[in-house]
Amino acid sequence: MSKDMRTWLAQLDAAGEITEINKPVDPLKEMGALLWQSREKALLFHNLKGYPGWRALGQAPANLRHAALAFETELENLVFAVAEKMKRRFKPEQVETGPVKDVVLKAKEVDLSRLPIHIGGTRDAGAFITAGLCITKDPETGIRNMSFHRLQVKGPNRTGILLVPRHTSLNLQKYEAKNKPMPIAIFIGHHPLYYMAAATTGSYEMDELELAGGLLGEPVKTVKCETIDMEVPCDAEIVLEGHVLPGYREEEGPFSEFQDYYISGTGKNPVIEFQAITMRKDAIYKNLQNGSEMEGCIFHKVPMGAAIYDRIRTVGGFADIKNVLVLPGIFGVVVQMTPRFYGEAKNVLMAALSSEYLHPKVAIAVDDDINIFNYWEILWSINTRVNPEEDIITLNGTRIHSMDPTAKELFPPGTPSWQRIGGKVIIDATKPPLSDPEARGIFERILPMGHGNVSLKDYL
Ligand SMILES: Cc1cc2nc3c(=O)[nH]c(=O)nc-3n(C[C@H](O)[C@H](O)[C@H](O)COP(=O)(O)O)c2cc1C
Repeated sequence: MSKDMRTWLAQLDAAGEITEINKPVDPLKEMGALLWQSREKALLFHNLKGYPGWRALGQAPANLRHAALAFETELENLVFAVAEKMKRRFKPEQVETGPVKDVVLKAKEVDLSRLPIHIGGTRDAGAFITAGLCITKDPETGIRNMSFHRLQVKGPNRTGILLVPRHTSLNLQKYEAKNKPMPIAIFIGHHPLYYMAAATTGSYEMDELELAGGLLGEPVKTVKCETIDMEVPCDAEIVLEGHVLPGYREEEGPFSEFQDYYISGTGKNPVIEFQAITMRKDAIYKNLQNGSEMEGCIFHKVPMGAAIYDRIRTVGGFADIKNVLVLPGIFGVVVQMTPRFYGEAKNVLMAALSSEYLHPKVAIAVDDDINIFNYWEILWSINTRVNPEEDIITLNGTRIHSMDPTAKELFPPGTPSWQRIGGKVIIDATKPPLSDPEARGIFERILPMGHGNVSLKDYL
């Protein structure tokens, strides 16, 4: 059986990682806060006020442990397993039909208010579809793109769409140059590895549905859309078919974003009009509550960490990288490594700050004796192994992420030039390298007498 949201639910259930909520929950007033509180378990809502018969799933994955489960690996091995799988591609296989065609609604039947779309944050402009994966194509070559975009509900058949200038935005520019609406298919609810693929930034030519196949280890099975020349996974929960209006912008946002702030991206952004919805007869709505270290950040962190690992491991021909962790807020990354030469860690950190991903502006290298999943060890390492006049370097005037509120915004959201310019910093908190054993030895960590031989629990 192909992997989909149902197989993922079964996997989470078998691992004891779901909390089932049977009491009534209001998606517009209560769901956000419940998801926010559930940092360890996925939440499956069975009783949604105002949406009889609907269920909704969120915080799935709630953390990196769940991500490791989805990739069928261990937390410590996640970066390596994902980096390996990211190299694989399987071309999607088109099939005649699938569960996502159980219900087909067209024209006047299209009504987004039928879906239990939740309001995430107290200052959000309204309800947003947050777990919709948007598929568009290059109008000339047909090259496909799949990515996440926040979609503010603006009417029964209308949403906004926020486009950071990357591939979907480039496709829209190409349609706008011809003054044509851009067809867009959005699927809501699937196996998390589809979401990981969509959050992967690669080359413009990369087809994220082929990548999803690579991550899943099986080709994605697609069906044709009803009203546009687009293919979508046949076993998604819900599909929306529409067009982005050319040359048109409307107020969009604010929205509770991944860095835990509201304002970034808010402004005049494009609008989608939908002409069809298809879905399973018992479709489960997939919500996603944003915020630091929430589900959306897990989808970001995993492919980002793996892509950065893949980039830095060949710095200087070979660098002994032990692990990579993207830090809360997504604007920082920690690299665990064994430095072999003086200067090597700094080279690695420069590469980490200059990958496919614009997010990281803080890059920290720690040595192989630091547990990077334990934040106090990272802070201890910075405090005790960094000589600021040598080990901290700031790079000024770099292009940083368009939604990093610390830096100056040049050109507004909704335009192809939307960007921010600011500084990046590298912090080398490694010990001296293997090539200087005497200097390295000074930083050997203390161990208590009896270490490894006695355990406190045996004395209680
Ligand atoms: C939960 C989540 C929400 C996102 N929301 C947006 C968004 O609203 N607008 C946007 O441009 N990118 C958003 N992204 C980022 C893109 O989907 C992601 O960077 C993707 O790799 C871009 O694909 P592309 O480079 O092929 O265009 C989001 C990512 C995640 C994980």
